[in-house]
Amino acid sequence: MTVTASPQAPDAPAALEPIRSVLVVGAGTMGSGIAQVVAEAGIAALLVDSHAPSLARGMGGIDAAWERAVAKGRRSEEEAANARSRIRAVASLADAAGVDLVIEAIVENVEAKEALFREAAAAVGPGAILASNTSSISITRLAAAVPQPERVVGLHFFNPVPVLPLVEVVRGLGTSDETIARTIAFARRLGKTPVEVNDFPGFVANRVLLPMINEAIFALGEGVADAASIDAVMRLGMSHPMGPLALADLIGLDVCLDILATLQRDIGDDKYRAAPLLRRLVAAGKLGRKSGEGFYRYD
Ligand SMILES: NC(=O)c1ccc[n+]([C@@H]2O[C@H](COP(=O)([O-])OP(=O)(O)OC[C@H]3O[C@@H](n4cnc5c(N)ncnc54)[C@H](O)[C@@H]3O)[C@@H](O)[C@H]2O)c1
Repeated sequence: MTVTASPQAPDAPAALEPIRSVLVVGAGTMGSGIAQVVAEAGIAALLVDSHAPSLARGMGGIDAAWERAVAKGRRSEEEAANARSRIRAVASLADAAGVDLVIEAIVENVEAKEALFREAAAAVGPGAILASNTSSISITRLAAAVPQPERVVGLHFFNPVPVLPLVEVVRGLGTSDETIARTIAFARRLGKTPVEVNDFPGFVANRVLLPMINEAIFALGEGVADAASIDAVMRLGMSHPMGPLALADLIGLDVCLDILATLQRDIGDDKYRAAPLLRRLVAAGKLGRKSGEGFYRYD
């Protein structure tokens, strides 16, 4: 029997256009980690930040991570050099015309993100996906800031990005099936495990995690136990890999406060009210690991 190649069946789904180039906006804790894993996956990565020293620090952190990986034998010199060749710091969004995907990882502030999405939509082509790494802000609201809301999606990585496998892929009210499918394929290409969730404040991860962290801070503030004891209870009794206060220091106490404010405002329930001790630490500039002190000191 002769089998001839038949043209694609009329109702077969069209092949998805793969993501070949990515602009990451914000070179802080998350943006630098995201740019690193994109370059490691063989995809061209551009990194931009409005604050030049932060961009330099972010690029330096990525280089240091690759040097450590080579020194520990987890990566060859050649792999590190190849990954490095795929990543480039750029001065502005205008340098990113033609990228397939923008991932913003700037400050957790809705007006700042809306302004950035407007600027990004004008700077890159109409086919590019616009993704936000927001921890809690409405994807539907960010999508309303741009002419084509169907190309806006949440792509929520976890800290540290090179280590943690999860990404929440957040479907806004107008996000198209094609945008979701391309975003999921991209996340898998990075070696991540995407989980699709709907657009509610905090999505799944922070809706569940932040109230636990906040309660641990209330317990500390009320004198139930000291920080190390609270963390020990949750590590040893609940099998959490790190305690909630150490985790808050890793996330950044300012980021925790911003997420709680979003949950309280957008869900409209005061059970998400931030612990007074969290507010005091943020006001004092004690933001956790990134500032050298939070619930613990980091030398
Ligand atoms: N830290 C975490 O554990 C974590 C986890 C998941 C998601 N997130 C989310 O990721 C985003 C970034 O968080 P982060 O912890 O990396 O913050 P960060 O403070 O470490 O970095 C933010 C960076 O964005 C830059 N920036 C601010 N406004 C900008 C703008 N308009 N254009 C370009 N750059 C700008 C800042 O200079 C800074 O370098 C937030 O939305 C946060 O909620 C954070």
